[in-house]
Amino acid sequence: MKKGENLSKKIVLLTGSGHHPGTSEALADAFERGALAAGHQVVRFNAGDVPVDFLKLAADQTVLPSQDQVATTVLPQVLAAEVIVLVTPLYYFGMTAQLKAVVDRFYTYNHALKDKQCVLLATAHRGPEAFATLRSFYRQFTQYMRWESLGEVLADTVRTPAELGDWPAKAEALGRHLT
Ligand SMILES: Cc1cc2nc3c(=O)[nH]c(=O)nc-3n(C[C@H](O)[C@H](O)[C@H](O)COP(=O)(O)O)c2cc1C
Repeated sequence: MKKGENLSKKIVLLTGSGHHPGTSEALADAFERGALAAGHQVVRFNAGDVPVDFLKLAADQTVLPSQDQVATTVLPQVLAAEVIVLVTPLYYFGMTAQLKAVVDRFYTYNHALKDKQCVLLATAHRGPEAFATLRSFYRQFTQYMRWESLGEVLADTVRTPAELGDWPAKAEALGRHLT
């Protein structure tokens, strides 16, 4: 057994699609199944379903307060988590605006959020090359945040959950074998 394996981790799954039942949702479900089976704790927020305030700054660059669900529940969970899982369909080569609105809200806590672990789950209807920009973003973003990536599952050529093939099994295995 590798060092750290099978220790229970606090995981926050952030999804970003309003498509239900959807392909990215199915990857999130599978990852959650695997993580729960391995004894991890999982909380989940779907930015695709719940209105999220955009980050707003005052003239002096301080962040203006918000009382939405991201402020009251999600950000405290993200701060307490060991693993952040970003789950998105590809929208014009990037993550959805809904999920990005949550990520932008991390701004207040850039320093406090350092040293987390993270995972990227994504779906797209084009081939694997469609993920180039998202992968590049993920690499730079995680480096900037000082996060360690535990893996990516990028399911290409899918529009509906029925087309997912063995991608959910890969997401489940990743959730089950976090180290
Ligand atoms: C607004 C919009 C933009 C999209 N942009 C892309 C894209 O740039 N590349 C791609 O391969 N698929 C794109 N797609 C297809 C979705 O990524 C794909 O159907 C995915 O499986 C949907 O995931 P979901 O069911 O979780 O919403 C787009 C779909 C929508 C609705």
